[in-house]
Amino acid sequence: MSNTEQTLSIIKPDAVERNLVEEIKNIFIKNGLKIKESKKIHITKDEASEFYKVHQSKPFYNDLCSYLSSGPIVVMILEGENAVLANRKLMGATNPKDAEADTIRNLFGISIDKNSVHGSDSKNNAKQEIEFFFKI
Ligand code: CDP
Ligand code: MG
Repeated sequence: MSNTEQTLSIIKPDAVERNLVEEIKNIFIKNGLKIKESKKIHITKDEASEFYKVHQSKPFYNDLCSYLSSGPIVVMILEGENAVLANRKLMGATNPKDAEADTIRNLFGISIDKNSVHGSDSKNNAKQEIEFFFKI
């Protein structure tokens, strides 16, 4: 049975800065995820703090919010079969050092904070995160 889903992907400042946007988009497309919406934006630290509020008790929260607002990012709605999990698999583990071969974070991630991409981790969070960036 098919299970078409949407999920939110973000190409983080480290990857935008290194001109990796098209290369990362091609990984999604080649692996069957359609890019339904895409926009390049530069968010404020307040907006980043709201987006990442689930992590507000974590020691890395302040740096994470400063980082996400430090430069342009590309936010996308990806759509496809089991898109939430499919995107997480293409991203690889949070720490690029642990990311499986040929995953985006393995190929492009610099460090645990500059790990090139964000992806929603559940269908419910995907819906909320898409609403956050696309107000739909
Ligand atoms: O992004 P992902 O869902 O894989 O990881 P997370 O646990 O939801 O953490 C969100 C983001 O916080 C990560 O992508 C990292 O950029 C950052 N982080 C960090 O800077 N230091 C950590 N020890 C853990 C996460
Ligand atoms: Mg997460």
